[in-house]
Amino acid sequence: MVTAVSLFTGCGGSDFGLHQAGVEVKFANDVLPYARDVYLANLPETDYQVNDVADIESFPKADLLVGCYPCQGFSQGGARKADRKVNYLYRQFVRALKEIKPKAFVVENVSGMQRADFSHLLRAQITQFRFCGYRVSWEIMNSADYGTPQERKRILIVGLRSDIGCPFVFPEATHGPKKQSGYVTIREAIGDLPDWPEGEYWTEPFHWYYLSRNRRRDWGETSKTIVSHPRHMPLHPVSPSLTRIHTDKWVWSEDRPARRFSFREAARLQGFPKSMVFPETASLREKYRVVGNAVPPQLFESVSRKIVDIIN
Ligand SMILES: C[S@@+](CC[C@H](N)C(=O)[O-])C[C@H]1O[C@@H](n2cnc3c(N)ncnc32)[C@H](O)[C@@H]1O
Repeated sequence: MVTAVSLFTGCGGSDFGLHQAGVEVKFANDVLPYARDVYLANLPETDYQVNDVADIESFPKADLLVGCYPCQGFSQGGARKADRKVNYLYRQFVRALKEIKPKAFVVENVSGMQRADFSHLLRAQITQFRFCGYRVSWEIMNSADYGTPQERKRILIVGLRSDIGCPFVFPEATHGPKKQSGYVTIREAIGDLPDWPEGEYWTEPFHWYYLSRNRRRDWGETSKTIVSHPRHMPLHPVSPSLTRIHTDKWVWSEDRPARRFSFREAARLQGFPKSMVFPETASLREKYRVVGNAVPPQLFESVSRKIVDIIN
């Protein structure tokens, strides 16, 4: 069985995908205690350490190293600043790569990393990975194309150790209008859940910034991108639609209640299983945070399967 070390693990979107691809995650790490609580409630076999990655003295050996280091510095939702300290956590990933020397690695990050103003950071990462002895390829992928009921564009970077003969080819889209299966809709993902789940959704009023763009999709569509801050969470389709009346100004089409997706719905729209357990050890804010940070499992699974085919 292929084994993995997972860094910046969060509540385990990436690791659910690894699991589905038949990979055993030996070790995981994050600074957020609630991320660990959720992870272990669902994937109890992994040794999950809660601490700063910089404090890990040595990493266990594994075939695959996985890391989705934080991305606030590049993201649409974050303060986009190329010099932020958080943008340099990849150096910890490189430290682990040098020590473990796995057959392959996978990194996921926001697609903003390829933008012209950040491309030097992307290049710096790729250069370091190459110095470590890996052939590196990357691609922007949309999770909806791989069966997640959500549009979420992310960069996936894959490295194969240079002694591994095969080239890596990213998986083809499996879902969409011209594919075997259509896109998965909001209805398919959350249609069985209650319309107004008391205590599970964020009730802060919708301020002008929220209403500066359309935040709603209908039941028969894929969701807009799920974010980690609940204030910016997209609208549930029970909400009235929004109409654009001016640049950056949208108004409700009807006078009736509206609400954001709950954290549980957000988890489904991220592609987590219906059986996903959320322990009651944290606030609503923390639940949204770990869910919104996650990598859609189906996306990670499709990339991991391609790697497993090569290194197994
Ligand atoms: C993009 S999220 C990863 C999501 C995760 N792979 C998943 O699929 O659920 C980045 C994670 O890095 C963690 N993180 C940030 N700084 C860290 C540090 N210094 N050491 C360890 N983890 C850190 C955050 O708490 C967050 O959970």
